[in-house]
Amino acid sequence: MKYIIILIVAMALTSCGEQKRESKLGAPATPVAQTPLEASVTRGKAIYADNCVTCHMTNGKGVPGAFPPLNPSDWLTNKRIESIHAVKYGLKGLIEVNGQPYDNIMLSLGLDDQEIADVMNYTIQNWNSGEMVTVEEVKAIEK
Ligand code: HEC
Repeated sequence: MKYIIILIVAMALTSCGEQKRESKLGAPATPVAQTPLEASVTRGKAIYADNCVTCHMTNGKGVPGAFPPLNPSDWLTNKRIESIHAVKYGLKGLIEVNGQPYDNIMLSLGLDDQEIADVMNYTIQNWNSGEMVTVEEVKAIEK
């Protein structure tokens, strides 16, 4: 009898320890599924870090007089198609962003349509607002 009690206590203690280890790792028993938009924004964050930060900066504020801001940007919000077009094919010449003029050049970054949708979703959802950009929408925008 004594041994059975000890065994039960020992089992209870080990399972407790296991629970603690799991919660420390932060792994929930059932992983929370991301929506397609959340998954796209997550991918877009990495694409932004690799392709956009050199000019638009990590915080999206840009560089006054040289690189326009994306955080926030009235141009991006009001000219959705032109913005996707700009990232897909490049943009040059005078534009006005948040009341400030920019007359510079952004070359095409060579991203594929899915990457463009993802990076646009990151900049729109993180710093502005708007509908989800889909790969079909990017594909349909011609030069
Ligand atoms: C080499 C510098 C450079 C890089 C890298 C770059 N851009 Fe730009 N971007 C510019 C410049 C310069 C303009 C303004 C062009 C003009 O004056 O016509 C611009 C304009 C824009 C605009 C429209 C204006 C605004 O502020 O809303 C968007 C949207 C944009 N870029 C998004 C991006 C995204 C997304 C990336 C990364 C995938 C990126 N850019 C990478 C330089 C850059």
